[in-house]
Amino acid sequence: MAKGTVDALLGIVFGDEGKGKVVDFFTPRYDVVARFAGGPNAGHTIIFDGKKFVLRSIPSGIFDEGKINIIGNGCVIAPDLFMAEARELETAGYTLTDRLHISRRAHLILPTHRVLDRAYEAAKGKSKVGTTGKGIGPTYSDKAARIGLRVGDILENFEAKYEALKARHLQILKDLNYTDFDITEEEKVWKEGVEYMKRFHLTNTEFEINRCLAEGKNVLAEGAQGSLLDIDHGTYPFVSSSSTTSGGVCTGLGVAPNTIGHIFGIFKAYSTRVGSGPFPVELFDETGDTIRHIGNEYGAVTGRNRRCGWLDLVALKYAIMINGVTDLVMMKGDVLDGFDTIKVCTAYKKGDEVTTEMPYDTEGWEAVYEEVPGWKTPLSDIRSEEALPQAFKDYIAYIEKATATPIKIISVSPDREATIIR
Ligand code: GDP
Ligand code: IMO
Ligand code: MG
Repeated sequence: MAKGTVDALLGIVFGDEGKGKVVDFFTPRYDVVARFAGGPNAGHTIIFDGKKFVLRSIPSGIFDEGKINIIGNGCVIAPDLFMAEARELETAGYTLTDRLHISRRAHLILPTHRVLDRAYEAAKGKSKVGTTGKGIGPTYSDKAARIGLRVGDILENFEAKYEALKARHLQILKDLNYTDFDITEEEKVWKEGVEYMKRFHLTNTEFEINRCLAEGKNVLAEGAQGSLLDIDHGTYPFVSSSSTTSGGVCTGLGVAPNTIGHIFGIFKAYSTRVGSGPFPVELFDETGDTIRHIGNEYGAVTGRNRRCGWLDLVALKYAIMINGVTDLVMMKGDVLDGFDTIKVCTAYKKGDEVTTEMPYDTEGWEAVYEEVPGWKTPLSDIRSEEALPQAFKDYIAYIEKATATPIKIISVSPDREATIIR
């Protein structure tokens, strides 16, 4: 019987909620930090001591030298991007090889997966997903089709396996008439990345995690993307290709449901989305531009403008339900400092139909809003709950009441220190 527990920190909207910051903040409480889904489509920002890091595949617990960080079986990994990310950390003075363990079951993103990602997007034309172009969809497709390559494959007879899968991809690309690309250079760096990966612990991480749990150690599962980008529960087909919700913690790490403790659901005081797909709260006006500008809502991976809108309680309540969120974490309240009033979406409307349940097809739904007073006070230097302005406390209480879930952590600036625990 496991003595330790696995707590999960999950983005519960469309990603970029601030997971990196909170995982980094939480790490001292845990022995192990583990990523269970996604890959370099993620961009997790961590800021401390005036330094900024953006992590893609490496867990955000890596800055605490005493902790083990695991890239779990549910993840996909691009050796070249992983090498670049790891080298940047090594240059900054962090030693990784003893503390970063990678599941042998995690799947490899090949250069041709990235070309396929572009080709599929091009073929979709106007209905494209707006992917990060990192080959995520094609890699998870190959995993499901049982033809993918796993990290463990690099240790034996790899060249032949690689060439076989690459040939298969090239044939698909030829059939799609998508031939105007050259991966020669990319492939060289990618292969260098494969060699580089061999210096890390490439292990059966599910045994490692369960051994830690049996010894009474605690694990923090770091989510990637957000619940509405989940392959099953998100706004399909405008989703990513992995299980980003709490069920994904179990399948993506090899831990049993009864080892899960807290499920922290992280969201921003407003909403954002990158890429295409329905977004009923989207603001196309000056207010949206203001939120984007003040919130610095530009993609950490692709630099794309993030679409901005008001908080969406329909989405939040749905995500709390499917994940079993026990504690909410609210980020970026400071971005709304200047607004006289703040809107909150409480329902969706299509013609005469009004719903508070996330619909099967979120296309064509309009947001129904309630309006609450703004706080008109700068939040970012506040470090205690007592010092928060009353109107902000009222906003918190309003969300807690609507969702029937406590907001346990409040973040008021990107910095590690600007985190209030209640
Ligand atoms: P993640 O993908 O969920 O880790 O989030 P990202 O790193 O992609 O995006 C979150 C952005 O918000 C980053 O630029 C963070 O530095 C920043 N951030 C995090 N918390 C706060 C906060 O409370 N206030 C402000 N203004 N920015 C924050
Ligand atoms: P983090 O972990 C925000 C979005 C893409 C696109 C869709 C599919 O930083 O929160 P993919 O490349 O995964 O096939 O793209 O999902 N997307 C994200 N949006 N944050 C992310 O990660 C995302 N990862 C993927 O923009 O709409
Ligand atoms: Mg991000």
